[in-house]
Amino acid sequence: MANTDSPTTPAKVKPNLLVVDDEDGPRQSLRVVFMNDYNVLLANDGMRALELAKENKINVAVVDLRMQHMDGIEVMEKLKAVQPTIEIIMLTAYETIDTIRQALRLGACDYLNKPFDIAAMRKAIAKANDRHNVTEQIRASNDKLSQLQSELHNQRLQEEVMKVRGEIYGSILHDINGPLTIISGYIQLINQRVGDAQHLEGEDLQLIKERLNKITQQVGSSIEISQRYLSFIRQEVSPASRVSINQVLKDLTELLDLHPSKGDHALKVQIPSEEVQLQMNGTDLIQILLNLAINAFQASPKPHTVEVVGVICDRTVDLSTVTDGPHDRVLKEDFNPTARLMALTVRDNGPGIPADVITKVFQPYFTTKPLGQGTGLGLSIVQRLLKEAKGALHLHTKVGEGTSFTLYLPAA
Ligand SMILES: Nc1ncnc2c1ncn2[C@@H]1O[C@H](COP(=O)(O)OP(=O)(O)O)[C@@H](O)[C@H]1O
Ligand SMILES: [Mg+2]
Repeated sequence: MANTDSPTTPAKVKPNLLVVDDEDGPRQSLRVVFMNDYNVLLANDGMRALELAKENKINVAVVDLRMQHMDGIEVMEKLKAVQPTIEIIMLTAYETIDTIRQALRLGACDYLNKPFDIAAMRKAIAKANDRHNVTEQIRASNDKLSQLQSELHNQRLQEEVMKVRGEIYGSILHDINGPLTIISGYIQLINQRVGDAQHLEGEDLQLIKERLNKITQQVGSSIEISQRYLSFIRQEVSPASRVSINQVLKDLTELLDLHPSKGDHALKVQIPSEEVQLQMNGTDLIQILLNLAINAFQASPKPHTVEVVGVICDRTVDLSTVTDGPHDRVLKEDFNPTARLMALTVRDNGPGIPADVITKVFQPYFTTKPLGQGTGLGLSIVQRLLKEAKGALHLHTKVGEGTSFTLYLPAA
């Protein structure tokens, strides 16, 4: 028999057609009529139909409306719950128009009266199968579309991460530029003093020795700066990254002191007295702290104080008692509270965050800042980097009093 009903090519597998009827006659006749074009599956009741639908991808089901135990409408609802794209044709006998309407309303795509006319049945099944194929295609396109959207979003985030990273690397060049200028100054001085002299003695020799010492110091600090940041870059691929919080806080202070958003706000950075290493990437940590501190500066043009404080937690951190609410928000996905932790707090006594805003602050692109000032990506980057570091965050805020972001990060 020529395949005129379905758009499938001969090489393709036949689509599955499910027939659910408690009478053997219609079941067998449908099987014989459609077995060339479809893989016909037969069920004599709703239970069997569901079993078949769980094991096979079904395009079209022909379901008898009047059956014992489970009637056609119930079977249809259960089939759709298993496979939402199944198209269903109802077989009706003496049903009232109301029952038929109900079946259509609940999702049947067509109905035929028993005993059915083969030509009409062929047409109905072909139409239902086409409809099924179109629905599947739309679903696939939608999936593809949302996948593309999320890729695009990730790319935006990545760009934003790179932008801040660029600022950090810019500041390394700035850091190295300082010692280089000093070195170059001393070399000039030495050159002047040495001039064309054949011998150096006494005072001259002493002065040059002192200057060479200074140069050595400055070269040492340049090498130290470049090595530190180079190790951050190398660490990007390593899950076992280490970073000295003391050093990060020093770098952060320099970056923030130069930052345009600092304005007339006060900055207090409290560096822990003992050396503490954290188990994460250094650039990620600076990036998190920069985002939080800059947000704190930008919270209001009225001068306020921004504090950054780091303490080692001597007890296990119990975040289960803190829940999301009008003043609080907790991020703790992938967090391991039993690890040795360091708590880093970025606190301001600025305007605080209103209850209707706090629910949205971590959403990408959410910003309360005027166009051109906020990207709304800062806290969403913080969230992402924090998750990578397996850390947690507690945001606490009160309108009129200020905001604190406390990070809990695994110590090395
Ligand atoms: N310290 C803070 N004080 C008040 N509001 C804040 C603070 N930090 C963040 N917010 C709020 O969270 C929003 C989102 O921040 P963020 O994701 O960094 O994006 P952006 O800074 O570009 O607006 C800000 O627009 C602001 O409304
Ligand atoms: Mg921001």
